[in-house]
Amino acid sequence: MSASAAKTIEELRHSILEHDYRYYVLAQPTITDEEYDKLLRQLQDLESRHPHLVTPDSPTQRVGGQPTREFPTVTHAVPMLSLANTYNEEDVREFDRRVREGLSAPYRYVAELKFDGIAISLVYEDGLLVRGATRGDGTRGDDITANLRTIRSIPLRLRSVKNAFRSIEVRGEVYMRRDDFERLNAEREAAGERLLINPRNTAAGTLKLQDPQVVATRPLQFSAYYLRADGVTLSSHHANLQILRDLGFPVSEHTKICPTIDSVIEYWRAWEAKRDSLPYDIDGIVVKVDALAHQQELGAIAKSPRWAVAFKFASRSATTRLNDILFQVGRTGTVTPVAGLEPVFVGGSTVSRATLHNEDYIADLDIRIGDTVVVEKGGDVIPKVSGVVAEKRPASARRFRFATRCPECGSRLFRPEGEANHYCENSDCPAQVRGRIEHFASRTAMDIEGLGEAAIDQFVDQGLLHTIGDAYDLHAQREALMRLERWGKKSVQNLLDAIEASKQRPFSRVLFALGIRHVGAGVAQLLARQFPTIDLLLKARKPELEQVSGIGPRIADSVERFFADEHNRALVNRLRAAGVTMQEERRADTTGPLNGKTVVLTGTLTSMTRDEAKERIEDLGGKTTSSVSKNTDFVVAGAEAGSKLTKARELGVRVLEEEEFLRLLTGRRL
Ligand code: IVH
Repeated sequence: MSASAAKTIEELRHSILEHDYRYYVLAQPTITDEEYDKLLRQLQDLESRHPHLVTPDSPTQRVGGQPTREFPTVTHAVPMLSLANTYNEEDVREFDRRVREGLSAPYRYVAELKFDGIAISLVYEDGLLVRGATRGDGTRGDDITANLRTIRSIPLRLRSVKNAFRSIEVRGEVYMRRDDFERLNAEREAAGERLLINPRNTAAGTLKLQDPQVVATRPLQFSAYYLRADGVTLSSHHANLQILRDLGFPVSEHTKICPTIDSVIEYWRAWEAKRDSLPYDIDGIVVKVDALAHQQELGAIAKSPRWAVAFKFASRSATTRLNDILFQVGRTGTVTPVAGLEPVFVGGSTVSRATLHNEDYIADLDIRIGDTVVVEKGGDVIPKVSGVVAEKRPASARRFRFATRCPECGSRLFRPEGEANHYCENSDCPAQVRGRIEHFASRTAMDIEGLGEAAIDQFVDQGLLHTIGDAYDLHAQREALMRLERWGKKSVQNLLDAIEASKQRPFSRVLFALGIRHVGAGVAQLLARQFPTIDLLLKARKPELEQVSGIGPRIADSVERFFADEHNRALVNRLRAAGVTMQEERRADTTGPLNGKTVVLTGTLTSMTRDEAKERIEDLGGKTTSSVSKNTDFVVAGAEAGSKLTKARELGVRVLEEEEFLRLLTGRRL
């Protein structure tokens, strides 16, 4: 048994590693996520039954080890050099001149992207990842193996190529994609947690976390750009990159052979212009002499090689004076501090406002009014203040006090325990009224074309809109609308049609559109799936809400409070009366563990009626029958279960206690 289990385990591992490679490195998956999860589950299952067969390179073992207090120091076998920086054509041509003088034969360059991330080193012995470390001071770095193992594009085991390459060192950059960073920050913002500054700092901070479990939840990427294989003759950097690909490492596809320095400059120009089209940040390009023999001939001075140079892009950050701190009130009442800046030209446009996120952010960076601050502008993100130039602080710089009253309506602000945000709690605050309607009508919510910021301001001013619900009575105000400036018969009709059409948006979109604090589009979908009608949701209490995986106490609390509020209940009823969708279209979820399964319910459940249980099983693609047979997949046994339970035991049918059943319903693995 054990021998055949060992064989199956090895086959599963091989297959999973292959799919990891296709997904994370080639970005060409050949199976669905469900099929992948199934393989992983089979492996987990087998390994848990044969624990002695678990090995460190198994894909189930990416996240492991205990949190550490500090990282052991490791010495790099070959120092990790850094690069000299150049910023203009002239400097790069000068670099080329020195290369030409240092070499006796014709040479060529490889140009590649300079990732704005963290350099790391990976050591493989006998094909297995044995050590991962930071660059540190170039000679000694931190051993962060457990953290690096959680990065899915880093192979735990090399893809079998030649044996010669089984003991190697690979270096490259760990980075975070911009969209992953934004998502992470949006989640943190919703949870009232401290915001992260930029993808690079986040990647750096993540690698320094002491708990690999937490690192595993952060989406980090790897790109390899260096290979050392003692005892093998390597010819060129470009050839090495191909070997790295064959060994299973992600290597940038934007690397280019450049026969002349002119083509290097051209490459630099092209990427400067299109850097925002990449999903991650780069801060320049790296130019490397291709032949390794040439690299050796040129050697290094101090800490940087003579055969490579960084050719950086113009910075997208600038320094300027912080004149004032203003406040902006969002739709959920969040009051955000905004920097009023001395206008400064950065990243192609003039910036005079930048976000300061929240009170803690300002305190952490010790930002004071009158300070010279660093303003950063990413690809398409809102400019932000990312630091202070401490040396330039004038004696007159003032510490800043967060507002105590709402700048829009004057009500007292509230900062909940453990949250970083301040809120205006007056739901009639005009800023919130406008903000809520704007959110409701926005493209990702109810998508009501024609009901944008300007129209909403107009309608609110005219007293035509006080709440979202009023939108569905606008048809009775056709004449009044047509009398407004910029509105005519046609545009009013279009607006009314758009409002009518919005009634058909799916339930999850409606939930999102309601603007419940901490309920983004993703959470709204979870809610709609688990509570498929508004009545279920109106009844749901915190403990039930928290049963849904992905919903924590903060969200549960916010949802319960929202639906407990009289105004909000009235709003829901009004929307329902207007014909807005208030239940999930019945579509069985075919991805969960109950899909296609036959379930028998027996005994009394405490958390729901038999009918509710049946409905929820069906929602997940399962069916219920009344008697137990060998075709039954699960028997759910509540209190005082009788003969059906006995029968299930006889037939060896899997029996689920209520708690396990609830876990299945809420999408957690058994
Ligand atoms: S080569 C001697 N290639 O830039 C070779 N570095 O100051 C040194 N970096 O520490 C590294 N992208 O963190 C190289 N394609 C790339 C790179 C790259 C980003 C970073 C790396 C290094 C720093 C050099």
